[in-house]
Amino acid sequence: MNAYFLDQPELAISGDDLARHGVFYRQLPVAEADYAESLQKLRDERGYVQMDEVRLNEQTPNLAALLDKFFKEHLHTDEEIRFLTDGAGIFDLRDDQDRWMRVHVVAGDLIIVPANLHHRFALDEQKSIVCKRLFQNTLGWEAVLRA
Ligand code: LAC
Ligand code: NI
Repeated sequence: MNAYFLDQPELAISGDDLARHGVFYRQLPVAEADYAESLQKLRDERGYVQMDEVRLNEQTPNLAALLDKFFKEHLHTDEEIRFLTDGAGIFDLRDDQDRWMRVHVVAGDLIIVPANLHHRFALDEQKSIVCKRLFQNTLGWEAVLRA
């Protein structure tokens, strides 16, 4: 994980800074045999009832349309939980001054964007990500675009 202010990249953002904004970050091993137990513990502790896996890369049908959608500033009324097992991604998260905090995540990074925090997502120059998504309920999970 590497985080900084988008309008001031020389200003690094630490895990503690993210935590102050309600963003949970931790690193897990990337091999399933090694992360399985930690992930299960997190699911039990935080009540995540559902998990799936998302892969995005240049072979993904409709990649451009998906990325357009993910890069529109939005929020969810539930947490957004992502654990990267391969590739990389960029989460831009609004801080308490409405500035973009750019969080570059790579394989082994687990990030939880809190409910109701405006954010957007992009791939980096690798154009590839594999991540587990965890959900707090089995109802639809939708994005609320920023007005
Ligand atoms: C999502 C990410 C891309 O809402 O923010 O799925
Ligand atoms: Ni989102």
